[in-house]
Amino acid sequence: MEKHLTPIKSLTGAIKVPGDKSISHRAVMFGSIADGKTTINGFLTGEDCLSTISCFRKLGVNIQQDNDKVTVEGKGITGLQPSSEELYVGNSGTTIRLMMGILANTTFRSVLTGDESIAKRPMNRVTKPLKQIGALIEGNDSGNKVPLHIQGGRTKGIHYPSPIASAQVKSAILLAGLKAEGTTYVTEPSKSRDHTERMLEAFGVEVDEKGLTVSVAGGQELKGTHVEVPGDISSAAFFLVAGAIIPNSVITLKKVGLNPTRTGILDVLRDMGADITYQNVNDEASEPYGDLIIKTSSLKGAVIEGDLIPRLIDEIPIIALAATQAEGETIIKDAHELRVKETDRIATVVNELKKMGADIEATEDGMIINGKSLLKGASVQSYGDHRIGMMLSIAACIAEGETTLSRSEAIAVSYPSFFDQLNKLSQA
Ligand code: S3P
Repeated sequence: MEKHLTPIKSLTGAIKVPGDKSISHRAVMFGSIADGKTTINGFLTGEDCLSTISCFRKLGVNIQQDNDKVTVEGKGITGLQPSSEELYVGNSGTTIRLMMGILANTTFRSVLTGDESIAKRPMNRVTKPLKQIGALIEGNDSGNKVPLHIQGGRTKGIHYPSPIASAQVKSAILLAGLKAEGTTYVTEPSKSRDHTERMLEAFGVEVDEKGLTVSVAGGQELKGTHVEVPGDISSAAFFLVAGAIIPNSVITLKKVGLNPTRTGILDVLRDMGADITYQNVNDEASEPYGDLIIKTSSLKGAVIEGDLIPRLIDEIPIIALAATQAEGETIIKDAHELRVKETDRIATVVNELKKMGADIEATEDGMIINGKSLLKGASVQSYGDHRIGMMLSIAACIAEGETTLSRSEAIAVSYPSFFDQLNKLSQA
């Protein structure tokens, strides 16, 4: 689908961004393997999370969904049933990788597959440790690519030093460890998002954390619970940057998740000079949240690297746009992982922003941006990547002239109401 976008004069008003994608996936998955009922409020109805619901229904789980309210009749950790069809995850890396961990606990064979983007993404990062735990996995390119055939075996706890800081890898291993003999440990090079650890605890599982090592003892069961999903800070990020770079703007983003493993974007934007304030913060919840107020700001360049990268990995495309509107140089490094997201986000961000007149160069593990540049409307595309589509739509709001965005439908993967909310703020 092609979308024609024109500049916006200002953004004002308040919105509640949709539910957190990572938390929504996990709530359905953990509810499915828990004993008893799980209720979810604030569920993200984006395509990725609907793929998770569809896969667990195929495994025999009764799931009722009414917009952002979901009820899951848990089957227990050994109660999933074989699916007569392939389990199709669409565009969702979180669905496939976490399901691999869950399916390592079954005695039957399942086939996992996905769309053209999933077909390119590396699964070895999960296949390798799960085989060590005892799962039987086969697939294209020796189990690195879909379709993947997976079945549990006699699983045994391992200590896995993960070469990458990835919550998908960490979560898959911990989930496979739930039924393994002994304890399963994962050590990361730096801390990735900890939604799995927090939510397993809410489902009654004991999770141990020492520094960068997380572990679970095998033989634990999950008990159904209620999950309240806060707004997704990765979705809020598009409006945080929009509010900062569009003139005369003041916007409030309500009930945004503020888990410290996800708030790197707030640290960076403040460092760049953005005017962000917090209200109604709840630090006591299993997943903290609060309201964020952002005003038009004068930004300056920053260096973004090291342990900060996993705390804002999904926000780098929109941070790159912010950097085009900041005085001076912004350097993003240590972000090789961007190359294996829904697209190679170093290549797609740099290509498309260059078309709009940005001074931006790719490096092997990041990018270098010099601001501030006047952006011009252009013909750009999302490459089927939701976050690239949203970043370019915000770029179009400050560009001179019209921008044509092709493959804009990809945005529904994580933010179906994105354009409605953008219109609401620009008309207020
Ligand atoms: C996610 C983890 C991150 C992130 C993805 C969601 C999760 O991926 O990019 O959008 O829900 O665990 P990695 O674990 O590959 O870093």
